[in-house]
Amino acid sequence: MKIAIGCDHGGFKHKNAISEHLKNRGFEVVDCGIYEDKSVDYPDIAVKVAEKITDGSCKLGILVCGTGIGMSMAANKVKGIRAAACSDHFSAKYTRLHNDANILCLGGRVIGIGTALELADLFVNTKFEGGRHVKRIQKITDIENKKG
Ligand code: RB5
Repeated sequence: MKIAIGCDHGGFKHKNAISEHLKNRGFEVVDCGIYEDKSVDYPDIAVKVAEKITDGSCKLGILVCGTGIGMSMAANKVKGIRAAACSDHFSAKYTRLHNDANILCLGGRVIGIGTALELADLFVNTKFEGGRHVKRIQKITDIENKKG
């Protein structure tokens, strides 16, 4: 499975650690930056990762900023993206099972690297449950498609 990953300066170390971790577990990782620890605007990276999902080149994405929140806000503006900011195991698992989230957003200033690796594992290894959740996801899409 191909995973797109990105971060701003608030998540640089976490992003690199997650990238290595997933590669060691056999995932193909597309690193959308940043590639050096410098200050950037998180929406610029969020859109790069989001578009890897919407253009079909990656199945899932992971974004890391200071809180995970700015990245999720920006990524969720891209049509077709369901980004979830998580800092606990239950949320990281259930946002795949129930919300079919396609991007996990993490806070490099909220959780440690060990927790980030575990949440990334849970996210990429959990499949959408389907069933009763399909129509709920469709309702999110309907909101997205609603005209003016
Ligand atoms: C950058 O200082 C910080 O604002 C950013 O990483 C993120 O936490 C925003 O949500």
